Amino acid sequence: MDIYKNSKDLRKRIDQYKQEGKRIGFFPTMGALHAGHMRLLHAAQKSCDIVVSSIFVNPTQFNNPDDLAKYPRTLPADLLLLQTEGCDVVYTPDRDDVYADEQSFSLDLKGLDSVLEGSSRPGHFDGVARVVKLLFEKVQPDVAYFGLKDFQQCMVIRQLVEQLEMPIQLQWVETSREDSGLARSSRNVRLSDAQRNAAAVIYRALQHCKANYSFPQIAQLEKEAIRLIEAEGFTVDYFQIVESENLQPNTASLKEPVALTAVYAGEVRLIDNLIL
Ligand code: PAF
Repeated sequence: MDIYKNSKDLRKRIDQYKQEGKRIGFFPTMGALHAGHMRLLHAAQKSCDIVVSSIFVNPTQFNNPDDLAKYPRTLPADLLLLQTEGCDVVYTPDRDDVYADEQSFSLDLKGLDSVLEGSSRPGHFDGVARVVKLLFEKVQPDVAYFGLKDFQQCMVIRQLVEQLEMPIQLQWVETSREDSGLARSSRNVRLSDAQRNAAAVIYRALQHCKANYSFPQIAQLEKEAIRLIEAEGFTVDYFQIVESENLQPNTASLKEPVALTAVYAGEVRLIDNLIL
């Protein structure tokens, strides 16, 4: 596995692969890798010749400095896991290497950035769009892989690629879950054992919505889901059922309803979602 801290060296290697006609798959990460990330790697291995990953805790997408400081950083273990699982290339830059040549650009996120995660974490999706654009420019993948756990992020990245006409195919990968149903997340390591067990309620609440979904009952279902989660001692930031394409509650009917939630387990913010 080749590891590059510098995007110029990374580009040289990728250019060689491209000249050899190789199809490049890419999955960006912020490290603290777990089985969910390995799903992205394995999906890329299935349809690409070369798999590139990046590990970079992107400061511009954190609106809370404490959250950035506490984000788990486990680079040696991450590199070992990627190598063991057969990743070909890893980019592990510092902030200067990512942002030094950034060109300003404008993007209309069509309100996707101002609801749900966006309203609780102002600026978060601007930071995500900035870094993903820069990483795409450096790696120039044929296909890029993202986990559906970050459903809203997937919708934002789709807008980015469409509006900037980037020649990159996007592939969403199903959320990986622990046996209890809790969505795998790098933040789970910050939960106590008791919190981790109790956090399974988040998926149960989502499943409750799926089992009982009917359009006019949305507000009632959201209330029931919040009650279930809060009964375990967590604080619900939001629990909303919206249209998957625009993330708006629709007054007519929802074509593809999705329930999305963010929950505080103590200081740890967990997100999850389910298409209903
Ligand atoms: O999903 C993540 O880990 C991050 O938001 C991403 C896409 C790597 C951008 O920093």
